[in-house]
Amino acid sequence: MSANDTAHEHESFIKTPKQLVVVGVLAFVLPVSLIIMLAQFVLSTAGTDQAGATSEATMARIKPVAEITVAAAGAEGAVRTGEEIVKAVCSACHATGAAGAPKIGDKGAWGPRLAAGLNGLLQSATKGKGAMPPKGGATDLSDYELARAIVYMANQSGGSLKEPPAPKAAAAKK
Ligand code: HEC
Repeated sequence: MSANDTAHEHESFIKTPKQLVVVGVLAFVLPVSLIIMLAQFVLSTAGTDQAGATSEATMARIKPVAEITVAAAGAEGAVRTGEEIVKAVCSACHATGAAGAPKIGDKGAWGPRLAAGLNGLLQSATKGKGAMPPKGGATDLSDYELARAIVYMANQSGGSLKEPPAPKAAAAKK
């Protein structure tokens, strides 16, 4: 009797075409999604090492750059360009000619000074001259930065000075 009931229940499970469609779709979708999930699981398990290695390799590739950047920034602050320094520091006097500073762009005022050459100008700018304080008051400037600022300013004013090589390149050559 109970066997009969089970058979009956089983037979009566799919009653309508709609149920048939649902069962048919499930019969197709379930195995397929199982296979997909399995494949993803296997791939992700197998890929863990690879993914780890890749991200480690990526870190290794990124790291030196970051270290160099930090080291460079830490050692002397980011090296500023001549233009940046002039705008931030020197133009306070040299843009307007305040305190008798040779004005940027004033070829007449710069002409005789340019004769001293970059080294001469660098020396007087480092020590200070007349109303100009040493390094224009920005004592944190490296010689290299100060030289670049002078080159920028002088070349805005009729000069044709060459930027000195970066100190690191010079040190590496020695
Ligand atoms: C506080 C004002 C002031 C600031 C800031 C200043 N200067 Fe000057 N600078 C002067 C004055 C004034 C002179 C003219 C000095 C003289 O000939 O008596 C001068 C002259 C110079 C000269 C010519 C030196 C020479 O031998 O004739 C150079 C080069 C120079 N400055 C570079 C700079 C640079 C680079 C900066 C920025 C880092 C700077 N100055 C910032 C006031 C200033």
